[in-house]
Parts: sequence; C-alpha cells; structure tokens
Amino acid sequence: MKKIVLSFSYSQKLGRNLAKKLNCKFSMVKIKEFPDKEKLIQLNADVKNKQVIIVDSLYIPDEKILDICLTADTAKDLGAKQVILVAPYLCYLRQDKRFHTGESISSKTIAKIVSPFFSKLITVDPHLHRYKSLGIIYRLKTKVLTANYLIGEYIKKHYTNPVIIGPDEESYQWAEVIAKIAGAEVTVCKKTRFSSRKVKVLLKNNITIKGKEVIIVDDIISTAHTMIEAIKHVKKYKPVSITCIGVHGLFVENAYNKLKKAGADLIVTTNSVPHTTNKIDLSGLISKEI
Ligand code: R5P
Repeated sequence: MKKIVLSFSYSQKLGRNLAKKLNCKFSMVKIKEFPDKEKLIQLNADVKNKQVIIVDSLYIPDEKILDICLTADTAKDLGAKQVILVAPYLCYLRQDKRFHTGESISSKTIAKIVSPFFSKLITVDPHLHRYKSLGIIYRLKTKVLTANYLIGEYIKKHYTNPVIIGPDEESYQWAEVIAKIAGAEVTVCKKTRFSSRKVKVLLKNNITIKGKEVIIVDDIISTAHTMIEAIKHVKKYKPVSITCIGVHGLFVENAYNKLKKAGADLIVTTNSVPHTTNKIDLSGLISKEI
C-alpha cells in the first residue's frame, strides 16, 4: 500500500523527516478559519487507497485534537485505506484519575474522542502512571515507543563522567534504562507535589555527585518546576555541570529561561515538540514502526 505523510504547519519538521525516512510523499494540511472561528480542513494531496500517516504532536492540544479528527475523517471520506496517527507527544494523560471531587478524568474522554478516527496510534514515552498501557483507554491499536535508547546514546557520546538523576520515583523506569546504556550510576529523588506549579524534590540516597556531570532526565518538562527543584537540591553537592534532558519539552510559562536561571548548563529534548533544545531526532525510531 502506498504511504503518504500529512502534517500541519506546527508539526511539519518531524512530518517531513518521517516522510523522507519512509521514502514517501509529504503534504501539508491546509487549515482555514471562518469569521466565526469554525475551521475548514483541506487536503492538498491524493489519499485514495493510500495509508495516510497523520503526524501531529499534541502539545497545547485542544485545537490540535480537532485538527487531527477533521483531517482523519476527511482522508477516509476521500478514500484512504488506513489512517494512522503519529503523536510523539500524547496529551491529556496526566489527568488519569479524579484527584478532586467532581473533576473529569480527561485522559479517558480524549481517548474516546480520538480513537474512532484512526486504526493505529504511535506515540513516544507517553505519561503512563496509573494506566499500565494505552490500550486501557484507547480503543485502537497502539504502539508505545521509547526514546530511552536515543537518550542513553546521546549521553554516552557527549559526557565522560555522568551520573543520571530522575526527579521523582516514577522516573526510575526510564532513568535506570538510560543509565545502563550510558554506563552511568543512577538515583531518583522523592517528589512531593503541592500543586501544578509547586513541588519539592529531595535526593533519595547517597550517590557521588561532587565532580560529576549531573544529567536529570524526565519524560515531560512543562512548567519546569520539577527540574528546577531537582537542580536546587543537586547543586548543593557541587557537580561540575548540570544537564536537563526531557523527552517532551513543553516549556510553558517561560520555563526554558527559568530553568537556565536555576542553573541548568544545558537543556536537551527530543523533537517530539519543536523547540531550540531539540537535539535528539525521533523520526528514525518512528519510521521503523510504520
Ligand atoms: C510528572 O509526573 C512528570 O513525569 C513530570 O515530572 C512533570 O510533568 C513535569 O512537570 P513540570 O515541568 O510542570 O514540573
């Protein structure tokens, strides 16, 4: 089956890279807006009888969710054989339970909205905390990829004396794997979250940090408060440098500058969300799954 990659202006770089790796056509979806703010989607390529791969990283997600659903439905209507969603960053997964009375469990609702439009969903390191797999909420074929290997290799290539730190207990799942690949020691912190903008982070055990290149690894850097608190704590032990690596760099509310100001010597992310910190390309990893 012939393939075609469709993407939007904000995700086009990754879309184009992926199309190159798959040796197939790339086409950008046109989005027009009516005066009353309703949207009109227009496909600029023939999708009939093709496998359509829609690439859209779902950061600042609300509009994008509508864009992908409209695009997928249009592609099917125009005769696409199969429509696959590549969402390297998958949104709305952190609200995986009702934390306060009356709250929505939005992860479930978004999964219900998106699922019917696609036959397969490919994503990278989704925030699976209370859900053991995406299949619990998404009703379609799902493939979860991980950037752990690429991050581990990046560290191995660029650092000589690294120590890997996960900013919370949950991060051990990826910090441990990355450390193994990079051939480094690893520890995690204990994080207490008071609100979405207030956390406290403490190192869990004694590990040599003095004189080492500290690499703090997390799945998401959003407000960066988690990373900032980890930096504040780790700094006391006098490392030679501090690098923050996030799979998905959302950098909301001026987070990048706040992180630099807090003492991050270098900030590195994958290109799941376009940003100047993108140093690790995911297109090769994703292409192997299509
Ligand atoms: C939460 O458990 C995640 O793994 C990240 O630690 C969190 O999303 C980071 O958020 P922020 O940058 O806003 O502290």
